[in-house]
Amino acid sequence: MIRVTTFARLPPRPRAGTIAAAMALANEPAFARQHLLGIEGLSAAEIEDLLDLADGFVELNRQSEKKLQLLRGRTLINLFFEPSTRTQTSFELAGKRLGADVVNMAVARSSVVKGETLIDTAMTLNAMHPDVLVVRHHESGAVALLARHVRCAVINAGDGAHEHPTQALLDALTIRRRKGRIAGLVVAICGDILHSRVARSNILLLRTMGARVRVVAPPTLLPRAVESLGVEAVTDMQRGLEDADIVMMLRLQSERMQGSLVPSVREYFHFFGLTHEKLRAAKPDAMIMHPGPMNRGVEIDGVVADDINRSAILDQVEMGVAVRMAVLDATTRRLRAQA
Ligand code: CP
Repeated sequence: MIRVTTFARLPPRPRAGTIAAAMALANEPAFARQHLLGIEGLSAAEIEDLLDLADGFVELNRQSEKKLQLLRGRTLINLFFEPSTRTQTSFELAGKRLGADVVNMAVARSSVVKGETLIDTAMTLNAMHPDVLVVRHHESGAVALLARHVRCAVINAGDGAHEHPTQALLDALTIRRRKGRIAGLVVAICGDILHSRVARSNILLLRTMGARVRVVAPPTLLPRAVESLGVEAVTDMQRGLEDADIVMMLRLQSERMQGSLVPSVREYFHFFGLTHEKLRAAKPDAMIMHPGPMNRGVEIDGVVADDINRSAILDQVEMGVAVRMAVLDATTRRLRAQA
């Protein structure tokens, strides 16, 4: 049962970023959606709410006792049709820390390999009454399609080159905690923009939150008419990094490429690989990000990736658990209110 508090009895709002704030937000219908299929369509207020909620979970995750009971008795199924280290593990941890039972479905050993369709798989799982399905699929739009056939909350953990909403949220949380804001920052997203769902979700989120976004890549790795997303497209790394507050590097996604889009890895690294020398064009306190998995010596020099003064790559991983806890909490509120 949802607890109804009269206005006169409302307690003072706890300080943002504390566990108390996260718990208080958990009782407010701030994010009223059942699914998180993408960043597209989310308002700045909805994004801000999710980030505030996640902030509280960061503090919880740093304590020795990390477990809450918000999702006690609920079932989360991780359904990953593509490999994952960060996203799958952090959803598993997030679910368990909120008290849910978590099942990681081994797609390679499931009936999918016997020819079962995505929809049949979804409907089969739905018949087992899960509360949340977290889905990664190689086809753009597959997760939204699946969501139309189930009753539970569905969270997109990456669909083809379309969207990876929780990655963009965890990137935003990392930026907001390090820089204190998102609006007005210059963010250079560099690398394989063409095939990147991370780039697309980040562009949508960062533009909604008022950042200036530049995409930096060779012409073969830039989507046609990318400027229509409200970004500046630059094909020279030095020029693209100028005065950047944030440098976000992306992996060359050879698994999605048809034919060779770069002459050689060596040449790509020479022109577009991030080194300390190239980084001089950015602001002196520019922060380096990478969603992972990272290919050292291809899109980023290992020395830069490990630079503890500049690199936020492991912070991103930490924020991933907190953001996924916030998303699980927010998308199941309606369900929990009905119980
Ligand atoms: N960033 C990201 O989605 O990583 P994984 O593929 O390891 O989940």
